Amino acid sequence: MPNYKYATLAVHAGQHPDPLTGAVNVPVYLSSTFELTGIGTDRGWDYSRAGNPTRDRLEMALAALEGGTCGHAFASGMAAIYGLVATLHAGDHLICSHNVYGGTARLFNEIVCHYGIDIRYVDMADLDAVQAAIQPNTKLIHVETPTNPLMSLTDIAAVCRIAHARGIEVSVDNTFMSPVLQSPIALGADIVMHSTTKFLNGHSDGLGGALIGTRPEHKERFSLVQKAAGGILSPFECYLVLRGIRTLPLRMNQHEENGRAVAEFLATQKKLMRLAYPGLKTHPQHELAMKQQKGFGSMMSFDLGSREAAGRFLGAIKVFLHGESLGGVESLASQSATSTHASLTDEEREAIGITPGLVRISVGIEDKEDLIADLEQALEAV
Ligand SMILES: Cc1ncc(COP(=O)(O)O)c(C=O)c1O
Repeated sequence: MPNYKYATLAVHAGQHPDPLTGAVNVPVYLSSTFELTGIGTDRGWDYSRAGNPTRDRLEMALAALEGGTCGHAFASGMAAIYGLVATLHAGDHLICSHNVYGGTARLFNEIVCHYGIDIRYVDMADLDAVQAAIQPNTKLIHVETPTNPLMSLTDIAAVCRIAHARGIEVSVDNTFMSPVLQSPIALGADIVMHSTTKFLNGHSDGLGGALIGTRPEHKERFSLVQKAAGGILSPFECYLVLRGIRTLPLRMNQHEENGRAVAEFLATQKKLMRLAYPGLKTHPQHELAMKQQKGFGSMMSFDLGSREAAGRFLGAIKVFLHGESLGGVESLASQSATSTHASLTDEEREAIGITPGLVRISVGIEDKEDLIADLEQALEAV
């Protein structure tokens, strides 16, 4: 793609008109198989697990948005993380951010650990701890920044410097920021991972995941995982993500404006504690957010003190919907202990600060005045 600016890229990368018909939208190729032109020859596709024309276009768009060299679309964000670790071997060591999305921890603790892969969780806000956790067999450092739901940040460039000095790759879960607000590859990351279910799709109507690589061996490895394990995104859902991407920069502007307004309002509220939003000066890593992010996004969390208080708040919201997930046009709120981190034990949750009163909100693109009025009336119920 020429050196286009971001909104142009979002509309056009991978989304050029269909060469056959001129259609300005990418056609949905609902074909599991493709006619072969001879023995061992085809028109570029033979079977949709290995490759599909609609998926190819999405993968091109994802690579362009993240500044990578290859994109790979998976059936969900979790399938993408599984694809990432599927390239490790028994005896390898993996370092992961310590308060990651609970589903990532569930995958690592209940499945990947049985493959002979040693997993170590580290508070990546502490670079000395990252350095100290590295072993001779460390192959990958997986960073989630900001973390879900505590909004703790990792200095991507600094972790990459530490890792690369020891020949270790760094992958970054960029789901919370979207490619618009954070560019891990420009900061040195080797691989970017997304749950496209969130901001990239943007409309809460399809699950999906992605890995974006930077080297020919990434393309080889991730294509093999797609073809061999088969956890790929369907053509129709690829189309939905492609459609979402076209308005991603526009939506992110509104998420950002609303996120800041809601966080500033919440900061004035006495009933909540531990408000975590990197855009507030009170966030301990506000300076890092200013340095490595292009905005602060619309994800935040706060503690209402008890499960009962969180329940009253969630029962009272009207514009915000009480539901899991994030990054859609609609505002959502949920109690983290029973949603994103339900798979952890009480002790594990307590160790990373997921208290019973912790509520996470994803601020949508509605009018911010309505969102603030809704939060105000719901907080009165607490
Ligand atoms: C940061 C993060 N990574 C990964 C995932 C998993 O994505 P999916 O639900 O698409 O499998 C989620 C889901 O909430 C998430 O928040």
